[in-house]
Parts: sequence; C-alpha cells; structure tokens
Amino acid sequence: MTFVVTENCIKCKFTDCVDVCPVDCFHEGPNFLVINPDECIDCTLCEPECPAEAIFAEDELPQDQEHFIALNAELATAWPTITEVKDPLEDAEEWNGKAGKIEFLEK
Ligand code: SF4
Ligand code: F3S
Repeated sequence: MTFVVTENCIKCKFTDCVDVCPVDCFHEGPNFLVINPDECIDCTLCEPECPAEAIFAEDELPQDQEHFIALNAELATAWPTITEVKDPLEDAEEWNGKAGKIEFLEK
C-alpha cells in the first residue's frame, strides 16, 4: 500500500508533511506535492500533519480522488525530493478546501 496526496494540496502546499516522513518520499512540483508509492512504508505519520487534510491511505481514498494514485506515481518520478518544510504558497489559507483545484495543477 501507500499513502497518497490528493487535490486539496494543490495551491496550498503547506509542506508540514515532509518533516515527519522517515524515508523522504515526498516529491515537490510547482504547486503540489506527491508521495512516491515505491518508497512509502505506510508509517501513517504524514496523514495527521497536513493542515489541508489532503493525505489519505490508498485504501481510504474518497472515490473522487482515486485518480490521484496514478498521478502521485507519475509525478514522483518527474519531480525532485523535498525534505524540509518551507512556507506555504501565497493564499494557501484561501485555497484550502476549494473544489476543482485539479485544473490549476502545474506540472
Ligand atoms: Fe512518508 Fe510515512 Fe507518509 Fe509514507 S505514510 S509518505 S512513509 S510519512
Ligand atoms: Fe500538501 Fe498537506 Fe503536505 S497541503 S504539502 S500534503 S502538508
């Protein structure tokens, strides 16, 4: 199994999650983070850390977020690793919880 970053991370990118990951399997894009499913050890630590509640265990994903399994796997191979917390994106608080953010995903 793996944990998966879902839509509500987009345009927020709080990065609290990367601080707790023992295997450094988060990868960073312009306005979204993903988890490398081949490296995640299912430790569960990141899930409660995300202020946007964007991280789910693969088998607990909301149905409308299932396409993020493939998206995390795909983008983890393209994006560099992130291991240190940084400031959230500008207006992260305003974007937290907004629907339809997938259209703003920058690759
Ligand atoms: Fe990292 Fe653990 Fe989260 Fe997997 S579940 S991404 S190993 S913190
Ligand atoms: Fe994204 Fe939440 Fe991490 S918003 S960067 S998954 S803390």
